[in-house]
Amino acid sequence: MIALPIVAIDGPAAAGKGTLARRLAAELGLPYLDTGLLYRAVGRLVLDGGGDPADASAAEQAARELVPANLERTDLRGPAADAAAAAVASVPGVRAALIDFQRDFGRAGAVLDGRDIGTVIFPQAQAKLFVTASLAERARRRWSELQAKGTSAALAIVTADMQARDAADAARAAAPLRAAADAFVLDTTKLDADTAFAVALAEVRRRIGWAKTGAGSVMPEK
Ligand code: DC
Repeated sequence: MIALPIVAIDGPAAAGKGTLARRLAAELGLPYLDTGLLYRAVGRLVLDGGGDPADASAAEQAARELVPANLERTDLRGPAADAAAAAVASVPGVRAALIDFQRDFGRAGAVLDGRDIGTVIFPQAQAKLFVTASLAERARRRWSELQAKGTSAALAIVTADMQARDAADAARAAAPLRAAADAFVLDTTKLDADTAFAVALAEVRRRIGWAKTGAGSVMPEK
């Protein structure tokens, strides 16, 4: 029997992992989960109840009450959602409560992106990528996204925010951001999205043992 593949994609904010993960999932015909949405939705549920996302017991309770429909909310992006997500993500009980949701999602094979997929959620994943880029490049990308949306923000502020988020992700005691020892590190600082995708796809196919057979289709190698 062929094990259904888990493709774990971790890395800091704005390194390009979401775009990459979505494209890999479409190409490989696997379901995709953006696990950042779980923390964002938990943060929102706490705010809905008038609570403080940094309050561990309120955050844990919200994590236990999370249902898939919460991930469809349209208010999961933006500064308030970012801050609430970062606060609940540092609560160990929240992380524990979200493990089963993520593992259930991966039962039939999946691509998941986040911060601890290859280290904590699926340490046995067949393919692990750690997608990163320099702070300056990630800040520049986030800044141009904001510009495109018509939100004006100074590049220096975007850079400082991102640096603070990196520090919080790497320093938290519960599942700090780090590359798994067996992850393929993909630095996208100097790569455009198509090149990053091509490199990632070749590495993932090699690791899961799926060869390309035709337009978009895959089959296990003999
Ligand atoms: O990737 P993102 O920006 O949507 O993540 C939102 C927050 O959740 C961010 O503070 C990092 C955190 N997070 C996490 O701790 N573990 C994950 N697997 C995904 C996100």
